[in-house]
Amino acid sequence: MDHFEYRNGEMYAENVSISAIADDVGTPFYCYSTATLVRHYKVFTDALAGLPALVCYSVKANSNIAVIRTLAEQGAGVDVVSSGELTRALRAGVAPDRIVFSGVGKTGGEISHALKSGILQINVESEPELAMVNLVAGELNCIAPVAIRVNPDIDALTHDKISTGRKENKFGIEWTRVHEVVTEARELANVDITGLAMHIGSQLTDLEPFRDAFQRLRDVVAILSADGLIIQRLDLGGGLGIPYDGGIAPSPEDYGRLVREYFADLECELLFEPGRLIAGNAGILVTKVIYVKEGASRKFVIVDAAMNDLMRPALYGATHQIVPATEPSGDAALTDADVVGPVCETGDTFATGLALPPLNAGDYLIIRTAGAYGAVMASAYNSRALVPEVMVSGDAFQIIRHRMDIDAFLELEQIPDWLGGNAGEPKEAT
Ligand code: LLP
Repeated sequence: MDHFEYRNGEMYAENVSISAIADDVGTPFYCYSTATLVRHYKVFTDALAGLPALVCYSVKANSNIAVIRTLAEQGAGVDVVSSGELTRALRAGVAPDRIVFSGVGKTGGEISHALKSGILQINVESEPELAMVNLVAGELNCIAPVAIRVNPDIDALTHDKISTGRKENKFGIEWTRVHEVVTEARELANVDITGLAMHIGSQLTDLEPFRDAFQRLRDVVAILSADGLIIQRLDLGGGLGIPYDGGIAPSPEDYGRLVREYFADLECELLFEPGRLIAGNAGILVTKVIYVKEGASRKFVIVDAAMNDLMRPALYGATHQIVPATEPSGDAALTDADVVGPVCETGDTFATGLALPPLNAGDYLIIRTAGAYGAVMASAYNSRALVPEVMVSGDAFQIIRHRMDIDAFLELEQIPDWLGGNAGEPKEAT
């Protein structure tokens, strides 16, 4: 459930009309609902009630510092995967001891940043990384809290590009080798093995892969415990899918039941890293129709948002529901059209053959379920400015990221001396 709904024929985010925000801020823009973010966080934590759980929101889904602060205020920790995300989390006010650092290629500099910040744990994904953590911790004269990420070799049955738990994927340490690696790690002077971590993929619409992976993790825990390792924490990752455009998704309650079935009897803290489940339906992308074009064989609704603003359809063939900001009347005649952006690629298509009511240039459209992996994955391709992000809370809304200023962006670029230098100063026409 989310807090974007039609009221008196207009789409609202909580108590604010989307068209009113669009008139004020200009399109395209992302809009997030505070009540929805909080609700999703609560639904997830409620599903884990009674368990010693710490929910570490996966910042990569939506890393705006206002979003992070909103969730941190609810008690969330965070999962970060770069120095940049760590900086954001700290800036948003997340306590360091509620931050876990995941990712397959942390640099020495990033490890140093994490250790100096005093974060809860680093999830290590390879032996060379383990050696690097030990080295950096030695230089800093500290003991690094480390969990070993297990690759359970389970197919998450999701999109190939976001499946992370099979042995051919780059993530984690093969489950059959974890005992050996932990045994080596326990000899390291500057590393404390706190437990294990796992994340098998994103947008899982079936709980069975979680079940299989949990079983593997349990097996590894049993082996390590028998060898005297005290497991302080198990990080079960994220991945719970959400419904896109009417699709199906497992309920957090069923997920919670599964977690209990496998881990309730262990005396360790359980960490979770949901991203999409928290942020996905809490955000929309608002765009404006520029032209309605009758092509040779299809009708195109050309909008001012594009694949650079929301990459998911182009990258994964993802389907996001698209609706007009003004509710169509019940008897409006629907015609099939493709909703496309202005970028010079045919892949810049948000929907194909979508049944739409009559639309005119200037009408606002809403692309739903865009709160996760939307703004964070945007680029300035075609030199299109990154779009603003707006947050709504009750009757109030505020810009939480301004539209990129193309002039300021260009100031990062420079014409080299041998071409005359002076970036930004246009050459006089001759
Ligand atoms: N933990 C780790 C270690 C991860 O790699 C991820 C996501 C998460 C947690 C959060 O997963 P979630 O709960 O959001 O499924 N850009 C893609 C999704 C990439 C997910 C990457 N890792 C998309 O738009 O579908």
